[in-house]
Amino acid sequence: MKNLFRKKTVGQILTDLSTRESEHGGLNRMLKVRDLTSFGIAAIIGAGIFSTIGRASFNGGPAVSLLFVFVAIACVFTALCYAQFASTVPVSGSAYTYAYVSFGEIFAWIIGWALILEYAVSNMVVAISWSEYFSSMLSGFGVELPRWITTDPISSGRAFAEMQEAIQNNTLNELPSNTRILAEAYQNAPSIGGVKVLLDLPAGIITALVTWLVYMGIKESRTTSNILVVLKLAVILLVIFAGAFFVKPENWSPFAPNGVNGVLSSVAAVFFAFIGFDSISTTAEECSNPQRDLPRAMIYSLIICTTLYVIITLVLTGMVNYKDLKVDDPLAYVFSRVNMDFIAGVISVSAVVAITSALLVYQLGQPRIWMTMSRDGLLWKKFSEIHPTYKTPGFATIITGLLVAIPSLFLDMQFFVDLTSVGTFFAFIMVCGGVLYMDKKGLSKDSKFKMPRISGKYIVGLLFGIGLYFALKQENYMQTLEEKPLLIVFWITWLVLSVLSFLYDFLLIPVLGILTNLYLMTELGLSNWIMFVIWLIIGLVIYFAYGYKKSKLAATKMQSI
Ligand code: ALA
Repeated sequence: MKNLFRKKTVGQILTDLSTRESEHGGLNRMLKVRDLTSFGIAAIIGAGIFSTIGRASFNGGPAVSLLFVFVAIACVFTALCYAQFASTVPVSGSAYTYAYVSFGEIFAWIIGWALILEYAVSNMVVAISWSEYFSSMLSGFGVELPRWITTDPISSGRAFAEMQEAIQNNTLNELPSNTRILAEAYQNAPSIGGVKVLLDLPAGIITALVTWLVYMGIKESRTTSNILVVLKLAVILLVIFAGAFFVKPENWSPFAPNGVNGVLSSVAAVFFAFIGFDSISTTAEECSNPQRDLPRAMIYSLIICTTLYVIITLVLTGMVNYKDLKVDDPLAYVFSRVNMDFIAGVISVSAVVAITSALLVYQLGQPRIWMTMSRDGLLWKKFSEIHPTYKTPGFATIITGLLVAIPSLFLDMQFFVDLTSVGTFFAFIMVCGGVLYMDKKGLSKDSKFKMPRISGKYIVGLLFGIGLYFALKQENYMQTLEEKPLLIVFWITWLVLSVLSFLYDFLLIPVLGILTNLYLMTELGLSNWIMFVIWLIIGLVIYFAYGYKKSKLAATKMQSI
């Protein structure tokens, strides 16, 4: 039992790091605050803002801009926690290493396992979405790829079944045009031995290309990322400035047509657009001054992206009625609605570029986490091998490429969006909790970056009282609790944290980080939690079969701090 909670010490991690660097030369330390901010923006702005914002605005109306602010606040609390950790333990494992130091091995493993959801699984979504934009960009230039090489078999098979049913019920005319296109792709696909052959080839190819770039070296990745980010920001600014001329303020009213519930139903989509600010902490061993630069870069990139997101949401919902935004390419769509087809075209092309840079960051982050887990003995040794020439974790990079490319050839993206969000919220909550632990144990006293030291002793309990008062004042709150039983978990956690904050004088920011992330998590629905629990169980089976025995801490019998 005690072994499950064996911990690494900050001192040990730092000694290991300098031994590694003096023996093998380590990774290339060349990233500066500007590169890191650029990586942050590259990771944050991607498929989310180029596509999910459309449906989010459709569900919530212009008020989704406020949801962006709320989610950003949760992310800032979390980013401050990440920043403090990254400054205390500047190695590439990110939240995984932070959990190893604060909560012990089993939690570290669970976080590492959850981070696969954040990086690899979200990249499947990003790759599939890239492919959609790529195909539509090509058709803008008059090039039509055969549908069976740009479509996954699952969604097209489903659409085909829907079409069959519609034919039987004589309701073919009511079938949405998108379902028809997919169904026809399935129908017309070649078959081998009676099995239809469909695959999303562009998604697989872009993943392979990006993986190759990441394999070749951090310098190449850095230059590419910097160029892509400048392009991406230019386009976002174009949307904002050009769009501003077409805003009709009457479109902003009603501001929240479907009420608070309508706005909150978009949590997963909005959160997906923010995922990634934390990923720059995985490059800690490639930063020239990680303790100073990582915290700054994380906060800078978050502030820049939030500002852009809020303004873009207001521009989109100001240009057209929110009801018209149920599309997958809203940024281009609004311009074609106001007869600015040229701008719409420029935006389609840039979406392809923007999404590529998001792919790059996640393909860079995932192998570095595996590398760290492997060094600790929790994964096979090959995962931590550094390529002698390119100085990158070569094997882990190739495995990440395969892991993302293969499912993105065949699977439907919708399934992965919520799963990614649940896993990421979970990792964020653990990082915020870890900071509370580190702080109480005095482990971060030498950190170069410390978050503002506001005490939560009384404030957490006071906020609990105020929050509960307003919640209970709402009509039908009991019914809301029945509909969303996960809210009960949230209130109990808040109560427990109020008591603990009073007893142990907890810092306010990490507590608020835990609460805001948990609240957003409760909005995701029970089925996502169930999928996540299944994911965790698979992870635990692997841990007990391998890492528990092979862990370096088991070998050295190092004692907990
Ligand atoms: N935040 C990333 C995106 O929007 C995941 O694509």
